[in-house]
Amino acid sequence: MDYGTAPEVSAALHTAIDQGVLGYLSPAIAGDMAVETSRYMREQCGWDVAPEHVHPVSDVMAALGVAISQYTPRGSAVIVPTPAYMPFLSFPPTRNRSVIEVPGIVDDGRYTHDLAAIDAAFKAGARTFVLCNPHNPTGTVFTRVELGAIAEVVERNGGRVFADEIHAPLRFDGREHIPYASISTAAAAHTITGTSASKAWNIPGLKAAQLITSNEADAEIYRGFGFAVQHGASTLGVVATTAAYRDGDAWLGEVVEYLDGNRRLLGSLLAELAPAIGYSIPDATYIAWLDCRALAIEGSPAEFFREHAGVTVTDGELCGAGYAGYVRFVFAMPRPILDQAVRAIAAAVATL
Ligand SMILES: Cc1ncc(COP(=O)(O)O)c(C=O)c1O
Repeated sequence: MDYGTAPEVSAALHTAIDQGVLGYLSPAIAGDMAVETSRYMREQCGWDVAPEHVHPVSDVMAALGVAISQYTPRGSAVIVPTPAYMPFLSFPPTRNRSVIEVPGIVDDGRYTHDLAAIDAAFKAGARTFVLCNPHNPTGTVFTRVELGAIAEVVERNGGRVFADEIHAPLRFDGREHIPYASISTAAAAHTITGTSASKAWNIPGLKAAQLITSNEADAEIYRGFGFAVQHGASTLGVVATTAAYRDGDAWLGEVVEYLDGNRRLLGSLLAELAPAIGYSIPDATYIAWLDCRALAIEGSPAEFFREHAGVTVTDGELCGAGYAGYVRFVFAMPRPILDQAVRAIAAAVATL
């Protein structure tokens, strides 16, 4: 995202540096983040999370690592709905876990899960389901009914969920974010949630995220190893996160409004200049999932755009098997650059 961060976050960082708050993460600083995360979840998402259940980690991928290595049987497979955020596919194998890819269903341009295929993957031995809500890369914000249907499948199979909710603050049209673990006692009992202020407030390099446990049994297990995981969270990252959740609303509101304009501008530019590229306007995130299958590109569309338009996008193939004809386009940039990028893509497409 090209918009810097909230002035309140910058100010908190400057103050911390001026005061020499550069040591190891103290219980007081970690506690402040837990209190602010808990308040944010309650006020913004109606989720009652005790501060004691909010644990600092370096990043959401570390939380995923904990969820699969500490809460599921050794060697059990991980279900990743596709298309997926690329590391969901590449990360579990580094923890000796195989991935079962489950392609999603697109209904009238809206991405959702294939529950029968997820059920089959659990029956084939998988134990963890990775839920990405809001969904990267398609931008779907799942409804309470959809989340409930997932919980039923997971419960039926005695599985677990890793709920990645990092994009939750970046929603449009007043859409409601429903934390998965908040929907029922059963969901709370089988879920580890990973989230972070790092996407919305643009601070991923500061290395701080939150792993949230939602039942006492998981919290108790966490106490046995959590000190080692917490060691990865940076003090300045935790300070910045606390400021973001506590004071960063106004800045975030402006950013979301700007991104809302960008997702619409992207739609109108594509419709006018490159109508063969499929685009469903996302409900959340600053990512567009572009269907380039109708273009006569030989090979990877991402490579084509890089070479012939000077625009870097993510190759859809990295998001799962069967998505070679797609690209992932990040539109969190100034509008003149977005305009320039789409015009360059359209000009390259016109040469085909
Ligand atoms: C869905 C999703 N999860 C996790 C991450 C990475 O988060 P972190 O840097 O905290 O591991 C990203 C980054 O883009 C993301 O889009």
